[in-house]
Amino acid sequence: MHQISLIPHRSLFELSKKHGPLMLLQLSSILTLVVSSPSTAREIMRTHDLIFASRPSLKAARILLYNNNDMAFAPYGEYWRQTRKICVTNLLSLKMIQSFSLVRMEEVSLMIKRIARMDSANNGVVCVSEILNTLTCDVLCKSILGDMIVAGTDTSLALLDWCMVELIRNPTVMEKVQSEVRGIAYGEEKVREEYLGKLSYMKAVIKEVLRLHPPVPLILPRESLQDCQIQEYNIPKKTRVLINAWAIGRDGHDFHYIPFGAGRRICPGIQFAIAIVELALANLVYRFNWKLPSGISSDGMDMEDSARITTPRKEKLYLVPLAI
Ligand code: HEM
Repeated sequence: MHQISLIPHRSLFELSKKHGPLMLLQLSSILTLVVSSPSTAREIMRTHDLIFASRPSLKAARILLYNNNDMAFAPYGEYWRQTRKICVTNLLSLKMIQSFSLVRMEEVSLMIKRIARMDSANNGVVCVSEILNTLTCDVLCKSILGDMIVAGTDTSLALLDWCMVELIRNPTVMEKVQSEVRGIAYGEEKVREEYLGKLSYMKAVIKEVLRLHPPVPLILPRESLQDCQIQEYNIPKKTRVLINAWAIGRDGHDFHYIPFGAGRRICPGIQFAIAIVELALANLVYRFNWKLPSGISSDGMDMEDSARITTPRKEKLYLVPLAI
């Protein structure tokens, strides 16, 4: 236990370098399987998808979510099946996501106006992290309610924040994204959703940020429903499983893209998240050139994640927007 820090995906990654990509740890009274390689993650989330489709009963979730009466932490069974069905066929269906297009556009336009108003105060410096937090909360609140807000805001915020951090640290990539977006939306006041399909370089950048900084680095815990064999090891029923997406994204040999999980418990909010992240990012880089506040260099930026289930950067991001 003492070897696991407040940023567990990083300490577990270090431990896996020493003990291998499949570790069975006794964490206090809980037997926990830690998975850090793409091939084993595939075995658990694809080959044995059903066996590992449950979630452990976590004390915090029991208290905060009225005895696990939500979807994300519900054990596998009839309640989860029904809730998930309602969610994917109604709340988060493609049709529903398209119907929120106006909400997204309005909120992104408000964000751009807010930044333009702010940039004359405070030596031109704005707190990008707070602006993005307001955006993701407002879009989620106006679109869907309930535990989706928690699942959706922190994660989309973390992704957008990391995108801006990586772009500011990689000016050549920022210029390429800007020239793609500005070329496609040339002459328009803002980037509209219909242009997003053409922004292939920006989409690739978002994917790369998801690989390096998955907003849920230790995919929500799973629990096995029966005994099972993973590689040559016998894994008993009710073993808790932590899949380290952060470590897997850094596996140079056999990279497996799982920032949203996989199998029957895969994140049902992927389209919802991508829609708002792409629209917000495209407009941020279309309308402004961004630079670091004076006296701060990109090399000196702290790249630590926060110690939470979802991991935006520990430090808030402050930047200077220059309207073009
Ligand atoms: C960048 C944004 C997001 C990321 C990276 C992300 C990631 C994840 C991950 C890793 C899981 C666990 C999957 C597994 O166990 O295999 C998950 C589950 C979930 N996500 Fe997301 N998520 C994001 C956005 C959203 C949004 C916008 C919503 C809703 C509007 C949402 C709703 C959920 C729900 C309800 C679950 C639980 C599914 C279940 O247990 O059946 N997520 N997400």
